[in-house]
Amino acid sequence: MRDEIDRQVINANPDLKGICNYAVGYNNIDVSYATSKNIPVTNTPGVLTETTADLAWSLLMATARRIVEADSFVRNGKFTGWQATLLLGNDIHGKTLGIIGAGRIGSATAKRSIGFDMKVLYYSNHKNKFLEEKLNAKRVQLNYLLSQSDFISLHLPLTPQTKHLISINEFKRMKETAILINTARGAIINERDLVFALENKMIAGAGLDVFENEPEIKKQLLKMNNVVLAPHIGSASKETREKMAKMTAYAAIDIINNKIPPNTVNKDYLK
Ligand code: GLV
Repeated sequence: MRDEIDRQVINANPDLKGICNYAVGYNNIDVSYATSKNIPVTNTPGVLTETTADLAWSLLMATARRIVEADSFVRNGKFTGWQATLLLGNDIHGKTLGIIGAGRIGSATAKRSIGFDMKVLYYSNHKNKFLEEKLNAKRVQLNYLLSQSDFISLHLPLTPQTKHLISINEFKRMKETAILINTARGAIINERDLVFALENKMIAGAGLDVFENEPEIKKQLLKMNNVVLAPHIGSASKETREKMAKMTAYAAIDIINNKIPPNTVNKDYLK
């Protein structure tokens, strides 16, 4: 996933038969160029959905309840006993969760809100029957979601259309108490604007697993207590990484045997 598979890499091997990405997101691959050369590109959909939704919630809860700060407070020997106003955070239960991108991972993230009695809003190109029927979720315009949600979680692929979807104008619409969670792709957020929004208290905090220019992290983010940072570990459970590895290996075996794997993202365009 971290390797850029561009034209140059694709052209470097004239016998290249396929590109098997060990990830669900494939913005690192020039799929249209691979397609023009009739090269199948595969990814790992489905197997990492629930694990990534778990991480979105880990970040949401850690940010809202200041778990990272609390942990270092204890480790640094500062805990002198219960205090009425020590490390006050934000409630999660009963709040509004805004899901941007209601595909597999967005839906799985929304599903986890049931136990927290949350209201769910979602923004998506498509109606999501599961979310509407099981969670009473409402499909709304992006601006409405931004202005009403207490927690906003991103679940979109990175494309030219979604790059910098969350920029200064979107931060201006968010509640000052809002917490933004990103387990999708860093560049969906304009990271310079995110820093500005956090520095100017336009939002309350952020839980980030992905960054605009990985592995580089903006130094201002590293200093903020209201930001919880993770090193792109959305799908990083032992069980899921094993499933992803198998899926990737089976795809490679299919390609070697001249079969198009079921998880081929450009299968409709191959000759
Ligand atoms: C990881 O980021 C993935 O897309 O699977």
